[in-house]
Parts: sequence; C-alpha cells; structure tokens
Amino acid sequence: MREGHKGTGLGAMTPDGCAVEVYSRLPVMGEPDVIAGVAPAGAHILELGSGVGRMTHPLLERGFTVTAVDECAEMLERVRGARTVCSPIEELDLGERFDVVLLASFLVHTGDIEERRALLRTCLRHVGDDGFVLIQREGEDYHTNVPRERVDPSGFTVRIVSAEPVGDGVNSVRAEYVFPDATWTQTFQARPLTREQFEEALGEVGLRVDRYLTEDRIWVKAVPVG
Ligand SMILES: C[S@@+](CC[C@H](N)C(=O)[O-])C[C@H]1O[C@@H](n2cnc3c(N)ncnc32)[C@H](O)[C@@H]1O
Repeated sequence: MREGHKGTGLGAMTPDGCAVEVYSRLPVMGEPDVIAGVAPAGAHILELGSGVGRMTHPLLERGFTVTAVDECAEMLERVRGARTVCSPIEELDLGERFDVVLLASFLVHTGDIEERRALLRTCLRHVGDDGFVLIQREGEDYHTNVPRERVDPSGFTVRIVSAEPVGDGVNSVRAEYVFPDATWTQTFQARPLTREQFEEALGEVGLRVDRYLTEDRIWVKAVPVG
C-alpha cells in the first residue's frame, strides 16, 4: 500500500486502495466524450492509471489505439484490446512518444509533491511533438462539499464521507462504494490545488495549460512549454 492509502472490501486492492471489483462495476460517465472531443481521429493514447479499462474500452470503440499503464496487474488483467504495461507511472520510460497522454482520475492531486512532479514528468517524457497531455483535476469543492453522495440509477451509491487535514495541505479522504451485495471503502491522501497552484505545478515540470476543456475546469489540455 502507498502511504496513507487503504482499501477495504472483497478482492484485490491496488497500492492506492482501489478495489479491482469496484472499478469493474463502475460505469463510464462522460470521460471518453471529453477525450474524443479533443483527440485527433485514430490517435495513439497513453493512458496512465487505466485500472480495468473503464475508459480504455470506450476509447478503443471510438477508434483510438490505447496503451494502458497501471501498477496493479489484477487491474490490467481485465483490460481487453489494448497493449498493457504494468509499472508505476513515475518510473515509466517506454522510449516512445504518443499523440495524447492521459493522466485522469485526479492522480495529479497526489499528496506527495515529488510524486506529482514525477507523474507529470512521465507525461512530458511521452508526449509527441504535436501531441498534448490531458489531465483530469478535482472540482473546486471536492474537499469542502463533504459528506456528499451520488446514487447511480443502476442501484449503487458513491459517498465521499470525509476529507480531514493530515498536515502540509494534504487531506485524508474516505470514500464508500455501496452496492446492493457488498460495500468497499477507499481512504487516500489528496492535495487540493487551486487553479493557480495547479498551473504552477505544471510549470515546475515544463508543461503549461493550453486550455480548460470543460466549464468546471476539471479537464485540462496541457502542452510542453516552448
Ligand atoms: C481511481 S483508479 C481509476 C482507474 C481508471 N482511470 C478509471 O477511471 O476507471 C486509479 C488507478 O490508477 C492506478 N494508479 C494510481 N497511482 C498509480 C501510479 N503512481 N502508478 C501506476 N498506477 C497508479 C491504480 O492502481 C488504479 O488502478
């Protein structure tokens, strides 16, 4: 387990406390539409932290080629139709460049600043000359609007139970996934970032915002500086 991360419930867990079974059950939302709205037709996408392929599979259906990276082999076993690479994102160096590098699922909010820099450097290292990086960041009230929950029409509930400060601007966040037959929890550490702090974090590694893709500024197209 990564420090400050924990998962409870049945089945395999990732080092950041995600349950493989939960991610196999969660439906995809609008993410592939946002990505497809900006990625060139047929683009080769490097998806960092792909999990079981919740976003990978709809992207493949839209005609993209995907290389899916995750540090959890049990997650990657469930990915179909994409090349998979089992590795921590921080250490990834494929010696290849991609049209689009995708860093979704709020991974940029990791509590560890050095880890964040390493994640973003991996993005930079793998983006092609005419390519770009797509980042999914947290919404502005993610850490203040708690507790909150979303009841999915298919019958499960995702609940953010608490976000408690643990020092140095980092919160310990507890999430619950309640399905009719079972419940999983994930506790993880996340660092809220204002727009300015986020842009500064990109700048530290030689990336800059090209544009915010959604009104809530959660999805960001970033490009190498210069
Ligand atoms: C919250 S899940 C999201 C999975 C997928 N992006 C989705 O939206 O369904 C995060 C995934 O990223 C992986 N992950 C988190 N940090 C990672 C790291 N530093 N290196 C490699 N994989 C990582 C976890 O193993 C997990 O599968």
